[in-house]
Amino acid sequence: MEEKRRLIITQETEEDNIISLSLRPSKLDDFIGQKDLVENLKVSIQAAQQRQEPLEHLLLSGPPGLGKTSLAYIVAHEMGARITITSGPAIERAGDLIGILTNLERGDILFIDEIHRLSKVVEEFLYPAMENYKIDFVVDKGPYAKTINFNLKPFTLIGATTRSGLLASPLRDRFGIFYHLDFYHVEDLQKIILQSAGRLNVVVDAEAALEIAQRARGTPRIANRLLRRVRDFSQVKSTESRINKDIVQQAMQTLNIDAKGLDDIDRRLLRLIDEHYKGGPVGIESLAATLNEEVDTLVDVVEPYLLKIGLLKRTSRGRELTEAAVQHIRGTSRIKESLQKEFFNH
Ligand SMILES: Nc1ncnc2c1ncn2[C@@H]1O[C@H](COP(=O)(O)OP(=O)(O)O)[C@@H](O)[C@H]1O
Ligand SMILES: [Mg+2]
Repeated sequence: MEEKRRLIITQETEEDNIISLSLRPSKLDDFIGQKDLVENLKVSIQAAQQRQEPLEHLLLSGPPGLGKTSLAYIVAHEMGARITITSGPAIERAGDLIGILTNLERGDILFIDEIHRLSKVVEEFLYPAMENYKIDFVVDKGPYAKTINFNLKPFTLIGATTRSGLLASPLRDRFGIFYHLDFYHVEDLQKIILQSAGRLNVVVDAEAALEIAQRARGTPRIANRLLRRVRDFSQVKSTESRINKDIVQQAMQTLNIDAKGLDDIDRRLLRLIDEHYKGGPVGIESLAATLNEEVDTLVDVVEPYLLKIGLLKRTSRGRELTEAAVQHIRGTSRIKESLQKEFFNH
């Protein structure tokens, strides 16, 4: 179960961290897809370089695994800047943030992942830092309290968030550039898979790459992860040196990933709504409780793709199945049942 779960969760795993260094693009030109974003970013980077100024603060939002962290590294690389990496939950006290900010050199990039999880107190320190490279802090208490201003070197903040909706508007407004990353087209995922295959030294047929791409939930991280699983499968189960479509299909079957890229947790969610809530609407909390999953996991990881491909609808009264979802799960469950019957009858 753990092993299967790991394929769809879009958070980074240990394995991702080790391998992503080699799979992570370092130049904008190697960043596949998201054309408008890449074009705009190129212009902003070039303009900043011509003016010899740091890039404006940049906010990247979108579901996990779509390339936010990669883009932060790419921007640093393209700007020839140093990058300091931290995350919202890691900055516990204002002092932590002040420590980081005062260590920044001119032109440095500060990357704050999961920026929507910064505490309010810390966030308030960020406002003047972003706006005019200053921090004000109060020393002593009561009548002796003094505000000390501290000048920072001009830097670029890159914030990444899976939920821009949770960002306070004063924070959001202080970013000069704001991009939303959307799920990737299948053709772009196919290219990413072929590029990664080259870096992993495996030969993958174009058709096989497409087959993986179709099941990657619009997400490069999942595409790379599936590629690695297929590579393992092929190494152990196949005598062919190339990875072909047939091997991909066998591997996917073993991993329980269906033609739409859904796995057990997606299907459990859809079935639950179908069978226990008559197709919905049902609140996300009830679903999370019954499935024994975190609400955040459902909202950040499971649901966005189901919404995107039109299997789920979000209404003011909760989540509802679409006709396509009913067809998809009843179709797959019927196939399973008939296979089971066949199995038991013989
Ligand atoms: N546009 C892209 N082109 C090539 N590889 C990509 C692209 N976007 C993401 N990746 C790969 O997908 C993985 C996840 O990307 P990451 O930047 O960590 O996503 P996020 O920070 O949004 O969760 C990385 O290993 C990266 O190499
Ligand atoms: Mg990331």
